[in-house]
Amino acid sequence: GKGWMTEHLVHYQGFWLAPKAALKGVIWIQDRFKARPTDIVLATFPKTGTTWLRALIFATINRTRYDFSKHPLLTTGPHDCFPFLDAYIYENDQSVSNLDASPSPRLLSTHIPYTLLPDSMTNSSGCSFIYICRNPKDVLVSKWLFMNKLRPKELPPLSLQEAFELFCQGISHYGPYWDHVLGYWNGSLETPTKILFLKYEDLKKEPLAVVKRLAEFLGHPFSLEEESMGVIQEIVRLCSFENLSNLEVNRTSAQKFSRDIIVDNRHFFRKGQVGDSENYLTAEMIERLDEITADKLIGSGLIFGS
Ligand code: A3P
Repeated sequence: GKGWMTEHLVHYQGFWLAPKAALKGVIWIQDRFKARPTDIVLATFPKTGTTWLRALIFATINRTRYDFSKHPLLTTGPHDCFPFLDAYIYENDQSVSNLDASPSPRLLSTHIPYTLLPDSMTNSSGCSFIYICRNPKDVLVSKWLFMNKLRPKELPPLSLQEAFELFCQGISHYGPYWDHVLGYWNGSLETPTKILFLKYEDLKKEPLAVVKRLAEFLGHPFSLEEESMGVIQEIVRLCSFENLSNLEVNRTSAQKFSRDIIVDNRHFFRKGQVGDSENYLTAEMIERLDEITADKLIGSGLIFGS
């Protein structure tokens, strides 16, 4: 069998979605969501850097409002800083009207594939998107370990071999992974001013340069004065794995995404490294995943970071 991790996924318009969460979210968004050109949407495949980028976007946009020593991120989990659209919007009419009443610019996040979003979000007068991708080997291993932590206690863990097979077949929440990435990648080629396409590995390697690009894209570029005062460094430090993962709020609190999706904040912080998957995957697994990736990305112009 496919195991508990994926047995409830349904195939919908080319993607694997959990029927009670993601699929419901997609349908609500298509029917009810009123996109604004000022909306800023963080779009990610799970385990590619959602938590990190949430913190960075929030800290960058609000940098003049807070003192770094009393910053909301010191006491609020990154997932509580702005709504996760997919889960939030289908909950009830109240949350939809809260969203409608929110002042612009609204910060939102989603895991929904680009091609499943309504035209009102993706057309040239739609929302702005920030997308982050990560090399598929690290995504797979991060996802496998994460799902086993969330596993109901009465069920046996999913083996890496089983998780690997499913991932290669594209069977994973919001998968196939490559199609998810290519949707946003192609979107970024079509409407480059509307989609900022980032890589986890670049963010690890050159956080200052990437956060600078992020601020420019958000329409809040750093001034020379801010640069000389080390504001970018402050943001990067505040949002670093070392800092966030050691905060009390991220070690003990849980995040309620919706009625049925509640996750301990600590599960969003595991290792935060590039290439840790090599400690888990066999040489054959690496070879096979690299081959699938090369095939899928051929002609796209996209290369994963490493
Ligand atoms: P690992 O399991 O490889 O450690 P998401 O936030 O999309 O669910 O992704 C979770 C992954 O991002 C985990 O990867 C987690 O450790 C890592 N992560 C979380 N916060 C981070 C941060 N501030 N900097 C770098 N990586 C971070």
